[in-house]
Amino acid sequence: MPDSDPLNLREYAPEAQDSLAEMAWNYYASGADDEITLRDNEAAWSRARLHYRILADVADRSAACTVLGHDLSLPVIAAPTAFHRLADDVGEVATVRATTAAGTAMVLSSLSTVDVEEVMAAATGPVFFQLYLYRHRDVSRDLVRRIEAAGCQALVLTVDAPVWGNRERDVRDQFSLPEGMEIRNLTAEGGLSLSSRGGSGLAEFCHEHLDPGLRWEHVEWLRSITELPIVVKGVCRPDDAERAVEAGVAGLIVSNHGGRQLDTSPATFDVLPAVCEAVDGRAEVWVDGGIRRGTDVLKAIAAGATATLIGRPILWGLAARGEAGVAHVWSILKDEFDRAMALSGCRTVEDITSDLLGPR
Ligand code: FNR
Ligand code: LAC
Repeated sequence: MPDSDPLNLREYAPEAQDSLAEMAWNYYASGADDEITLRDNEAAWSRARLHYRILADVADRSAACTVLGHDLSLPVIAAPTAFHRLADDVGEVATVRATTAAGTAMVLSSLSTVDVEEVMAAATGPVFFQLYLYRHRDVSRDLVRRIEAAGCQALVLTVDAPVWGNRERDVRDQFSLPEGMEIRNLTAEGGLSLSSRGGSGLAEFCHEHLDPGLRWEHVEWLRSITELPIVVKGVCRPDDAERAVEAGVAGLIVSNHGGRQLDTSPATFDVLPAVCEAVDGRAEVWVDGGIRRGTDVLKAIAAGATATLIGRPILWGLAARGEAGVAHVWSILKDEFDRAMALSGCRTVEDITSDLLGPR
């Protein structure tokens, strides 16, 4: 372990890279094609300026908020990311412990390397399950039953991956999972291994199992088979946000999958205000992609989001220092968000309004 602690989320990346196999680091880091959207996600937050309020008595502050009816300590939750055991032996169990101990929620990936039941046993706060819909609808139906029985509190349906994004680092590496590591929650029963037939093993796997024929009717089908709230992940346009609301979702996530699907799709912050306007409070709007600072979170809330998610920073903390690293990532972000609130003249999350982004 190095003698100085990372001071911010980005500083965890090099420490994570040092402790990961090259194939795993590349998988976590990669975006699609030329990685333009990957870079632009971060750049978009940094372009916005905060027009802070003065003399607003910020002696007492709280970052507490409510997401899908759950009380959270800050408006940031853990995005679904696959294969945490590539970073740490206990994988998703470490992530859920540190995340729920920080008072916030985790979205568990379909491609988790630990059984959902084991993750739920370690959780001390809400866990939502990220779902991919499979070519065989029965498989998805059985999986939903399993997720409900395990105690997950919402379904996050990812819709920006009808086919797999072209992540050339994974193709070059012939990405696969090491011996003994499996995808644990793809079906109602056991795990599935993931090997390469010459390209990205994950792309091959997804081509085989995921359904490129998904339509809006499938969101309604999902609603018809479960009482769990549904959040649609991967929205980039106001008209699609409108359709999601009409389909009865509890929330939607403005996301481009961390720049891993359609390269040159817009940075999430650049489309967030228009999506929030279209939704007009009828559903929760979450946003992810390139959020690395407390000020980024504040900008998202000011633009109208209910909550934000972080993906890679959690994996960096996990790879560098296991559960303690994830806990530290949360504590850094909490401190930064608190400071951003105080310096912007905000005592509560409700005080974070659009005027902070400047005159229109
Ligand atoms: C992801 N993401 C993702 N999304 C999803 O719906 N299911 C998944 O299994 C995964 N897996 C995954 C793995 C890795 C390594 C990454 C980097 C991303 C996308 C993720 O939920 C989120 O949208 C982005 O990661 C957010 O961007 P940042 O915070 O990583 O920039
Ligand atoms: C990814 C997945 C698994 O982006 O969604 O790699």
